[in-house]
Amino acid sequence: MKVNNRTEAAYSFTSTRISWVKKIKAPDKLVQSEEYQEVFYCNYTNLNRKDYDWEKLPKLLQDRFEKQDKVKVNIFGCSDGSDCYTFIINMINMLGKKAKKFFPVLSSDISPDIITESKKGNILLHKNDLDYLQKTNALKYFERNNNKEVQIMRGIEFFPFRVKSELLDKIDFSVKDVRKEVMENDFSDSVFSSATAGALTL
Ligand SMILES: C[S@@+](CC[C@H](N)C(=O)[O-])C[C@H]1O[C@@H](n2cnc3c(N)ncnc32)[C@H](O)[C@@H]1O
Repeated sequence: MKVNNRTEAAYSFTSTRISWVKKIKAPDKLVQSEEYQEVFYCNYTNLNRKDYDWEKLPKLLQDRFEKQDKVKVNIFGCSDGSDCYTFIINMINMLGKKAKKFFPVLSSDISPDIITESKKGNILLHKNDLDYLQKTNALKYFERNNNKEVQIMRGIEFFPFRVKSELLDKIDFSVKDVRKEVMENDFSDSVFSSATAGALTL
């Protein structure tokens, strides 16, 4: 069964990082075929994804939640945390101390394996990511993990990094299924993002 076109198309995006693509046994009631399982937990992602305007988001949220002391930011399908890191970096850069009420970001994914890695702050960064971090003055939040080897995927070099606690502590990673969460919670006074990039389980 073909789940969707975007999942397959992701292979051709040179800016898209593959991280810990993993085949995991999924609950039988959700999965009807072997092929479905192969795309079930693909964790393609990268920093500064182009389908969000990360620089405009902080001001927009500040205005929307001006009267709230604390704001829950829920990022579902977070993979290795790239979206959260991009979000937090921009919030700090644009709002300074006022960004604090949006932290910790509630960041979750259905895949327990990717959450285990994310909690440790393990991340693979390529040249575009590093250029972006340099440009946003955020390279200081990452340190090279020399215990792991450089990986080459689709001709692109990926360097193992570890996220420093200064940034990692601003995220609360957990395993969650967005389909269940939307049925059980009210997100009207919080920020909701479910960027599963076409890989959302049906
Ligand atoms: C292609 S990655 C996208 C990661 C990142 N948000 C981005 O857009 O670059 C899709 C992620 O969604 C997760 N995912 C798929 N179905 C999900 C569900 N029902 N609930 C939560 N996460 C899910 C996958 O495990 C995977 O890490």
